[in-house]
This record gives sequence, structure tokens and C-alpha cells, in this order.
Amino acid sequence: MKYAILGDIHGNLEALEAVLARARELGCDHFACIGDIVGYNANPHECLEIFRGLDPVGVVKGNHDEYISNGEETIGFNPMAARAVEWTREQLLDEELEWLAELPYTKICTAPGFGRFQLVHATLDHPEGWGYILDRFTAETNFEYQHFAICFVGHTHIPVAFEKNNGIKGGPFSGTLQLERNRKYLVNVGSVGQPRDGNPQAAFVEFSPEEMKVTLHRVDYDMEATCRKILSADLPPRLAERLAVGR
Ligand SMILES: [Fe+2]
Repeated sequence: MKYAILGDIHGNLEALEAVLARARELGCDHFACIGDIVGYNANPHECLEIFRGLDPVGVVKGNHDEYISNGEETIGFNPMAARAVEWTREQLLDEELEWLAELPYTKICTAPGFGRFQLVHATLDHPEGWGYILDRFTAETNFEYQHFAICFVGHTHIPVAFEKNNGIKGGPFSGTLQLERNRKYLVNVGSVGQPRDGNPQAAFVEFSPEEMKVTLHRVDYDMEATCRKILSADLPPRLAERLAVGR
């Protein structure tokens, strides 16, 4: 069995379809998401429908999932984020908003032969506080709350991986991470729908518990179609511009 762990899909249908096609080619047969299925891009409803249809083993709530589903005013948001939240609310069915509102902040999953692993959008120490894991120091705080061998996170849209053995090492993540027993790992799976590490390709993680491997994949997708939809939906043009530069 292999997992595809997706994060920060953010309503980008073309990126989600390209990622799922690659995941299936790789033989991924289980799916999980570390949150923010919706927000920013123009196909939140379609992305929800497709991802829920995969019968995922775990999905946790992201900050955009929360903002969009809680119905509260967007006071204090920057104008671009506020517009995206309000627009996305209008696109979703009541049932979809309720589903998002009921997502848990963290989820523990079990991989047969490997053991348990955990999903959280932001940080384990305060999942609903939406803090960022950017470096060794913020990773260290998270490890203090991490009881299982591996934890997958998102939120920054920047793939990173940290290993805790005697000390903590790690940083930007690409390629394959070989897991060792009796160590702990913290992996940011990157963003499917709005990468911010300077690489505009969609990102996701393949997790093979049998091989003890975690691999970051990057996938081209039809970004022009995504951008056209953003502009014709009257979402802020900056949301299209940033996709092309991966920021
Ligand atoms: Fe996000």
C-alpha cells in the first residue's frame, strides 16, 4: 500500500487532476489531505467533490477551510484573502460548508506494518493557532508534541523535512527521504494548488510505509486554464500571477 498525501489544494482543479494522475501511476491507493482544500483558486466545489470521492483515510482542517466554513466576517484579512474567502463561500453547497466545518484539526492514521502517523495543517502544539513551521526551531516545538514516527503538515506551501534523532536536522525537501526506525520525522508536503517555494509545479508526497520512504513529487499542470478561470470568476488577478512564479 502507498499513500498520496496532498496539501493546500486551494480549489485548483487542474493541479489536483494532474497530481492524482501521477499518484495513480505511482500505485498510490490511499489518500490523505493536510487541509485547505478550498480558497484562492476557482474550483473549490469540484476539488471537494473529487477529493471526498477518493474515500480518504484522513483529512484535517486548514485555516481557509475554517474561514470559509465558519461564516464569520473577514475583518483583519488582507483584501485579496477576504475576496477569495467570500467568493468561495458563495460557490459551496451548505452540505460542503458543514463538512468543512466539522473537519478535525489533527488526525491519527495507522499504516499496517509501520504504525501510526499524524496529520495536522499547521502545528501540533497549537493546531488551531495556525503557526508556521519554517526552520529547525519551530520544528523542535512541534516534535515536543509529536508522539508518532511521522507527522505530515502543510500551511506554508513550502516543502520541508526534519528528522529528530539526537538532534534535529533538515530543511527544504525534494527527492526521497529514507526513514529509519526510532527516529521522528516532520514533513511539509508542499502545495498542490498554490506552491510558494519558487517552483510553480504542483507538489505532493508519496508515502510508502513498506519501503519506509517519503518522496516529494512535482507535477506540471494546465496552469493557463487555472489562471483563465481565476480571471473570469473576477477573483483578484494577483492570484493568477502568483501561480506562474510559485510564490
Ligand atoms: Fe494554505
